[in-house]
Amino acid sequence: MIGQIRASTRTIGRRFLSDASGAVKQRPKKHSKLGVLAGFVVGTAGGFYWALNSTLSNPPEFLFPLSSSTRLCDIPSPCYATKWDFELALEELRAHFPEDAISSSVTDIENHTTNNYTLHAPEPSQRPRVVVYPSSTDDVVKVMQIAHEYRVPVVPYGGGTSIEGQYVATRRGITLDLSRMNNVISYNKDDMDITVQAGVGWQDINELVGSDGLMLGPDPGPGATCAGMVACSCSGTNAHHYGTMKENVVNLKLVLPDGQVIKTRRRPKKSSNGYNLTGLLIGSEGTLGIVTEVTVKLHVKPKFETVAVVPFKSINDATVAVTKLIQEGIPLNAVELLDERMMKAINFSGQTSRKWDEQPTLFFKLGSGHKNILNEIVKSVKQVTKDTGGQSFQVARNEQECTELWSARKSIFWSSIDYGRSVISPDVKVWSTDVAVPMSNLSRMIEETVKDCDASGLYTTIVGHVGDGNFHCLLMYDSKDEKLAMDLADRMVTRSLKYDGTCSGEHGIGTSKRHHLVQELGEDTIDVMRKIKMAIDPLRIMNPDKIFKIDPNDRAK
Ligand SMILES: Cc1cc2nc3c(=O)[nH]c(=O)nc-3n(C[C@H](O)[C@H](O)[C@H](O)COP(=O)(O)OP(=O)(O)OC[C@H]3O[C@@H](n4cnc5c(N)ncnc54)[C@H](O)[C@@H]3O)c2cc1C
Ligand SMILES: *[C@@H]1O[C@H](CO)[C@@H](O)[C@H](O)[C@H]1NC(C)=O
Ligand SMILES: *[C@@H]1O[C@H](CO)[C@@H](O)[C@H](O)[C@H]1NC(C)=O
Ligand SMILES: *[C@@H]1O[C@H](CO)[C@@H](O)[C@H](O)[C@H]1NC(C)=O
Ligand SMILES: *[C@@H]1O[C@H](CO)[C@@H](O)[C@H](O)[C@H]1NC(C)=O
Ligand SMILES: *[C@@H]1O[C@H](CO)[C@@H](O)[C@H](O)[C@H]1NC(C)=O
Repeated sequence: MIGQIRASTRTIGRRFLSDASGAVKQRPKKHSKLGVLAGFVVGTAGGFYWALNSTLSNPPEFLFPLSSSTRLCDIPSPCYATKWDFELALEELRAHFPEDAISSSVTDIENHTTNNYTLHAPEPSQRPRVVVYPSSTDDVVKVMQIAHEYRVPVVPYGGGTSIEGQYVATRRGITLDLSRMNNVISYNKDDMDITVQAGVGWQDINELVGSDGLMLGPDPGPGATCAGMVACSCSGTNAHHYGTMKENVVNLKLVLPDGQVIKTRRRPKKSSNGYNLTGLLIGSEGTLGIVTEVTVKLHVKPKFETVAVVPFKSINDATVAVTKLIQEGIPLNAVELLDERMMKAINFSGQTSRKWDEQPTLFFKLGSGHKNILNEIVKSVKQVTKDTGGQSFQVARNEQECTELWSARKSIFWSSIDYGRSVISPDVKVWSTDVAVPMSNLSRMIEETVKDCDASGLYTTIVGHVGDGNFHCLLMYDSKDEKLAMDLADRMVTRSLKYDGTCSGEHGIGTSKRHHLVQELGEDTIDVMRKIKMAIDPLRIMNPDKIFKIDPNDRAK
């Protein structure tokens, strides 16, 4: 390819010269002095043109890299605003924004530094210098133009519920909190989609569309926002039936690192219109630009829905049951596995109004638009789980019982904390790791993990979105056991890769799983991601250091 370009520019250069000399030759002799002069001028211009062309076709590598991927060792460290530059940028921001849109108060900075759900706390210095609250896409454009001019790093922030260090301000700079962009732009009930600003929460959408019998698919942590969900490619208990963000986003409006605005696509259900930029942005964790508007699909809420609970003797029996149900094509709106320790924690904490068998247990959501069909589904699930070793089958008979049965699944986080605080230590923390493996390897993967947890001496509980081979291990630890917990989580990820799995089913990479992503995909694949990053954000100001390294001098994992 490069050879071809070079050859063709040389040919053009040569043709130019020969045409020029041909023209000179045809001139009458009496103009010979003029002819020589013209020949000289044309010849010089031609030579110049040739030199320019050969520079263009053979530019210095550092200006115009020729390779299809970008290795970390081939790029220099990024160069960000000095403290002085930052002050100038801040002055410009203050000139454009009202006072209440810019904050550097201690609590504001604190609130945007980290949350309490992660084991990977930022370094004490890794905190934003300033938090900016835009109210519109135009505001975001202004911030990015200023940030681009002064090379200030910008970290977008939605609901702050991500747990792998996704919004840590590793290079300080601006944290852009989009929570004030919380308007619905258009709700197309008949097309079953809705366009909202970045800061609208998934719970808000469900509240709005629920009365029309509609719902959003993905259901991550309470408080998460649409743009944060796009950025983390999140999902939740509904993913088995309704898909993850990857299957649910229709289009996005994006402010690029230099302040340009693009829309990735229009609204029809299908389109074969070139590169899938929507797909590229889902899971990009704020490293390519700032999402300001999101159009997502809505689903029909099942008119009739019920909850069933089935305890099993072993995790293997439970996963065999799920595999069989899936293979028989029985629709499950959600299927969640809680291990016996999780059931014990729930039982212990009293977060639910009833007590539970302390055995690995499957929680099902079953639904349909027709009552009779739902009854058939319930019957099939009952039969299959019985055949595969289900110890009992409880099904809710009304809405109140549905809520009661599902409340156990809902309480897992608080039940685990309660249990940990009472039994382990009052300052216990919970960190939820997240991996996914092919369904056929799930039970071996979980069983090995449980053995490893036992050996470590930490108390752990397991909750799995088993229909997708995805599960979390909640590690309970106090400060003296942090290293133990970290190592246990590391081994769990390594194990998932042995089973051809992924280091992140739904929580993303952030700063804390970068080394695992290298393990999973290899340097070459990451180098292509880095090439895309460098093409769109050559100054590396958008959420630096997330997903993969962008600085050869970055010494962290
Ligand atoms: C209790 C609890 C339960 C959870 N359960 C689940 C679960 O079941 N399933 C699941 O998938 N996740 C779960 N999560 C994780 C979390 O809720 C998701 O990752 C969610 O998508 C994060 O959204 P957020 O708005 O809080 O994003 P934030 O944490 O604010 O940000 C996350 C990332 O998105 C980027 N970002 C934010 N806004 C924008 C924007 N406008 N443009 C570009 N980038 C942006 C940020 O820079 C950051 O990199 C849980 C978390 C908690 C605390
Ligand atoms: C910081 O977060 C706390 C807890 O979420 C909240 O109550 C408080 O209002 C926040 N402070 C600011 C300045 O946003
Ligand atoms: C984290 O926990 C500490 C102590 O429990 C609390 O003071 C702080 O407000 C919490 N931070 C957030 C962001 O919730
Ligand atoms: C593009 O990617 C999105 C998100 O992953 C996906 O939902 C969609 O089906 C893909 N294709 C098109 C044509 O939009
Ligand atoms: C559930 O917890 C209660 C209270 O801790 C306990 O008495 C009971 O035995 C537990 N139930 C089962 C089935 O183990
Ligand atoms: C995972 O399951 C496949 C069958 O789907 C099997 O061939 C493979 O050996 C399993 N991996 C491990 C590490 O057991």
